Amino acid sequence: MNPSITVYVPRDVTALSLGADKVAKALVTEAAARGIELNLVRNGSRGLFWLEPLVEVATSAGRVAYGPVKAKDVAGLFEAGFLEGGAHPLGHGLTEEIEYLKRQERLTFARAGITDPLSLDDYIAHDGYRGLRRALGMTPEAIVAEVTESGLRGRGGAAFPTGIKWRTVLGCESAQKYIVCNADEGDSGTFSDRMVMEDDPFVLIEGMTIAGLAVGATMGYIYLRSEYPHAEATLKATIASAYAAGYLGDDVLGSGKAFHLELRRGAGAYICGEETALLESVEGKRGTVRPKPPLPAIEGLFGMPTVINNVISLASVPIILDKGGAYYRDFGMGRSLGTLPIQLTGNIARGGLVEKAFGITLRELLYEYGGGSASGRPIRAVQVGGPLGAYLPESQFDTPLDYEAFAALGAVLGHGGIVVFDDTVDMADMARYAMEFCAVESCGKCTPCRIGSTRGEELLDQIIVARSEGPQPGQIELLKSLCDTMLGASLCALGGMTPYPVLSALNHFPEDFGDTAEVR
Ligand SMILES: Cc1cc2nc3c(=O)[nH]c(=O)nc-3n(C[C@H](O)[C@H](O)[C@H](O)COP(=O)(O)O)c2cc1C
Ligand code: SF4
Repeated sequence: MNPSITVYVPRDVTALSLGADKVAKALVTEAAARGIELNLVRNGSRGLFWLEPLVEVATSAGRVAYGPVKAKDVAGLFEAGFLEGGAHPLGHGLTEEIEYLKRQERLTFARAGITDPLSLDDYIAHDGYRGLRRALGMTPEAIVAEVTESGLRGRGGAAFPTGIKWRTVLGCESAQKYIVCNADEGDSGTFSDRMVMEDDPFVLIEGMTIAGLAVGATMGYIYLRSEYPHAEATLKATIASAYAAGYLGDDVLGSGKAFHLELRRGAGAYICGEETALLESVEGKRGTVRPKPPLPAIEGLFGMPTVINNVISLASVPIILDKGGAYYRDFGMGRSLGTLPIQLTGNIARGGLVEKAFGITLRELLYEYGGGSASGRPIRAVQVGGPLGAYLPESQFDTPLDYEAFAALGAVLGHGGIVVFDDTVDMADMARYAMEFCAVESCGKCTPCRIGSTRGEELLDQIIVARSEGPQPGQIELLKSLCDTMLGASLCALGGMTPYPVLSALNHFPEDFGDTAEVR
């Protein structure tokens, strides 16, 4: 028998849904039939979804990629000598040289797709836990200063500086403080949180542990979207490994400092991603929004000072502590520093994850990475930042990804999800959908959102029916006035941002609402 050859088949849910388990089984069966010894590693996804299942083979030149592989392709791959990196129609050469991947700047996703997500040894062999080891030798103030210097802003949507949030919690006197990870990931077109949890979960565990050391919190909770059973299983297994190896517990790596971590399954409502509703939900109550102040940093979970951060924010902390705040800060532009994991979805030829420094334009993402629309038709609009994000027309595709540049357009970057639409999209339908989404997901606590969204949906129904003759007098004015009320008077950003998609659709695509002076 020849020496064992390592072959990688992802276990990420995207790859699984495209048949990765069947491919893995076929590889094992075919290898056995040929008397070949395979070392099959179930790695995470590289995020090149259009190539999933992406099978990789370790060769002396590096890992060689084949994809998208189906079980029926496996015999042919063996025939072509893929175990030595042989040529095959599904071959892409060295994985690291694939343009989509090569041109990325992967800091937070440095290990995704490379390692076995369940293996603590693999994590450590690829620079894992270096950030925590350094943090253990630092004062809490110095850890917070490092994160502040990095310029990291919350990746969950609001882009609030993480260092300032942590400093507030550090400054509170309290017998108990908490770290809460917001893993509810409810925005349309987003999956980067899921990828961290399925493909490199220890980086999140490490980031939360560092956050605990930084602010003096000994307990952390991950509030996980209920629709993520694979992430749940992966997190459960890796949290157990971290405890067993002394990376979690009463005495983290013999430092005398405690940090405990538990998983909480989300309640399945979009609003449970809003930080105060999330706290209510973790406390076992219905997820409705709490008025602010008090800020969760001062009175959060069970009334105690609490850091709430998104998965990507926390998963970016280990590299900041390992390589220094200045290293991270040197990526990006303006006040948007570091990198953003961008998720390309919708009508796009090459969907997937692209981690780049802030400053890349939408056009580069859509065409150079995404390869244009999947349908081959012109891209008419993209929605950035989830269901509450604005629609951007072609004339705005040269906007750099930068929080301030987007704000200047009345848009948001949110969690970095980009949903693409070709020229068959009906933007009045999209505006109506935004109101419907808000009506369905409203927590009901305030009138502009609870009632306003229902009236908005009805009004858009009337506009859509009437548009062939042009909207009835006053309809558009009424819609704008309703949006104004929701923008200014809602208690939280669900009601407060629903006007973003509605008004952007109306402003940029007036022809879809009936082309009258009132619309224009
Ligand atoms: C309606 C609504 C839904 C939200 N959903 C999420 C979510 O799924 N995940 C998330 O991280 N933040 C979500 N947020 C933002 C959180 O309220 C909060 O700003 C964030 O968790 C803070 O972490 P960060 O500073 O690391 O971004 C949501 C906000 C609103 C208003
Ligand atoms: S805006 Fe909507 S979701 Fe937010 S508090 Fe008001 S009713 Fe609840």
